[in-house]
Amino acid sequence: MKLKKLVGFSLLLAATSIFAQQKPTGGAKDPIDAKIDALLAKMSIEEKVGQMTQVNINLILKNGYGNTDTQIDPAALKKAVVDYKVGSILNALYGYDVESWHRIMSQIQDEAKNTPNKIPVLYGIDAIHGVTFTSNSTLFPHNISLAASRNPELAKQCAKVTAKETRASGIRWNFNPVLDVGRQPLWSRFPETFGEDVYIAKTIGAGVIKGYEEDGLKNPTAVASCMKHYIGYSNPKSGKDRTPILMPEIELREYYLPPFKAAVDAGSSTVMINSSEINGVPVHASKYLLTDVLRKELGFKGLAVSDWEDIIRLYERHKVASSPREAVKIAVLAGIDMSMVPHDFTFFDLLVDLVKKGEVPMSRIDEANKRILRTKFQTGLFDNPYPEEAAKKLFGLPEYGKLAIDIARESITLLKNEKVSKDAASAVLPLVKGKKVLLAGPGGNNITNLHGCWSYSWQGDVAKNYPKTSKTIQQVLESYLGASNVISASVEGFDRKKNYRTDSIAVKAKDVDAIILCLGEDAYAEQPGVIDDLTLPENQLELAKAAIATGKPVILVLTEGRPRIIREIEPGCTAIVQAYWPGSGGAQAIVDILYGEYNPDGKLPYTYPQFTGDIMTYDHKFIDEIQELSPGRITYNGYKPQYPFGHGLSYTTFEYSNLKLSANTLSKAGSLKVSVDVKNTGSRDGKVAVELYSKDLFASITPSVKRLRAFNKIFLKAGESKTVEFTINKDDLAFVNNNLKTVTEKGEFEVMIDKLVGKFTYTE
Ligand code: BGC
Repeated sequence: MKLKKLVGFSLLLAATSIFAQQKPTGGAKDPIDAKIDALLAKMSIEEKVGQMTQVNINLILKNGYGNTDTQIDPAALKKAVVDYKVGSILNALYGYDVESWHRIMSQIQDEAKNTPNKIPVLYGIDAIHGVTFTSNSTLFPHNISLAASRNPELAKQCAKVTAKETRASGIRWNFNPVLDVGRQPLWSRFPETFGEDVYIAKTIGAGVIKGYEEDGLKNPTAVASCMKHYIGYSNPKSGKDRTPILMPEIELREYYLPPFKAAVDAGSSTVMINSSEINGVPVHASKYLLTDVLRKELGFKGLAVSDWEDIIRLYERHKVASSPREAVKIAVLAGIDMSMVPHDFTFFDLLVDLVKKGEVPMSRIDEANKRILRTKFQTGLFDNPYPEEAAKKLFGLPEYGKLAIDIARESITLLKNEKVSKDAASAVLPLVKGKKVLLAGPGGNNITNLHGCWSYSWQGDVAKNYPKTSKTIQQVLESYLGASNVISASVEGFDRKKNYRTDSIAVKAKDVDAIILCLGEDAYAEQPGVIDDLTLPENQLELAKAAIATGKPVILVLTEGRPRIIREIEPGCTAIVQAYWPGSGGAQAIVDILYGEYNPDGKLPYTYPQFTGDIMTYDHKFIDEIQELSPGRITYNGYKPQYPFGHGLSYTTFEYSNLKLSANTLSKAGSLKVSVDVKNTGSRDGKVAVELYSKDLFASITPSVKRLRAFNKIFLKAGESKTVEFTINKDDLAFVNNNLKTVTEKGEFEVMIDKLVGKFTYTE
């Protein structure tokens, strides 16, 4: 349940003519338009404002926020759907079973039949890495892992399963994907992002949207997606969730806008707005961002929903509105179509009053309604608003579990793998089966740290909500090695003192070959996940030091949403595996990688910082690296992460050669082919993500030292070679200039693949 604080009570520009009529594409008249117009002509002000109102499920459940049995209170349901005519309901308290969802959904839609125009209710849910709020759903790794997999196709497959299991639950609107670029690792929603790189966020984000929507929204395999949280949410100055963002527009456009642009182009149906403020303007109050940029510039035609309580917070928290009424007026005129109120009906009352007094024009209300009704028509709710049997059959198919393991395997990133001693024949990983290991640390026999936020509850931290089939690392390890080969010092619960027994670790480790030390973060979401320090907590560091002091090889397995600083213990660890929050297949994938059943191929989707005060992305500027020690004495040590962006080891080795460019010039209308030969020079088969970076040597805005422009993950058998070819054009080299225009300037460029460099000139 979202145990968020309940509200206690229950600059403007006229924004009418500039709003374009909603059409799916330019050109041909959409038949839905006529239906929408006919419906709108019959709707009262109250019905229209009701459509713009979204409330939390607790408002219709018996016992409200105290509900534990999913039973609807008929009087409360009538109040919401018939009296207040709400267009949308959201959320759940925990993972309900499919049957309960069907009952809830049917009751809601039955009630909607009692409204004057029988407009079905659009239910929205956060199915963030799988279906968060349906019990026994398949939970995939988080977006940060999808980015690490560098496998957009697999990520899209996960999205398709999420769509199916959401729809099977009778729900047709998913508040995902998060397209906020993760350039501030302290931010508690970092794991929900696709990491720090714009190209990855664009590519995988757009693929996920297609995964949700491309079958056609009427189809029982699809759901409407929601691009969120437009825009700039992910880089608060303090690193803390929902605190101010101070960002020049040039930066907003260079790094944060492109994933939304790509998502609009990929056909996303809806958008959710950033709860925070940028340069002193709450985004929910920004007509510039919500209308001028989102609608006129990006051409987005779909529905814009507020985030949780964010309209009233213009008054309560942001203090740009002097009353709740003014807050509603500001947000609706700025361009919000639907208010996630969600705890009461104040938005409805206030907006009806504003419309009746002419302070919000009917044209704005109609515009919002067109977008909402269009989503309802498109998702087939007017044809059949009830849960579909065809969709239900697609819940929990066996292949989903396999996919969860596959994507976890492809994302987990091997950060370090050294020899136990100088004379050892090979690196410590993969471990040899049949030898005894000690499993230690709070993450070793715990389930919630494998899943993170949005896992059978908002915070994901309630172990009893998880399916019986969810396995901890210890459980998988024991069935793989035999219980007698696993000595465990791990118990469930990150807070349990037993997990931090530094005094007994040496005794326990006496007869083992290696220590598998599971550290990191337990599940958290949003503000409860705010931390003051990125360093791994003291008790975990102490445990690691004790493990290292035993002299046995320590294999550090990190399950964490964001990169916690490990500088102090890193040198003592022989191997380090970054598992992120790997989901339902996570424990299996971790064991597979530790024992070489799978050859790791994940790559870091972010720069793993070494120091809390040195947060820098890989695409930093040239002067970020330069330190002038005395006049003329310069070092280039400015970028010194623990591990750089793109880092990720394999149990085999790959060699790159023969970088070729199809020409040494690129013209405005032309394209350039860049090819490279990649050979698996080791003795194991494996996958590798081949990455192409570019560098603009000189530009009117200081260029980044490099930018990722393309990648392609390939499989190579031991000894095999393949030629990988990329095609780039001028748009791949573009940047935002001082006039806030995206341009490519003529001049010299480099392309880099691994350590190979090619040069060409862009001639315009
Ligand atoms: C989050 C959104 C989420 C919404 C509905 C908000 O607190 O910021 O990402 O979709 O709640 O649960």
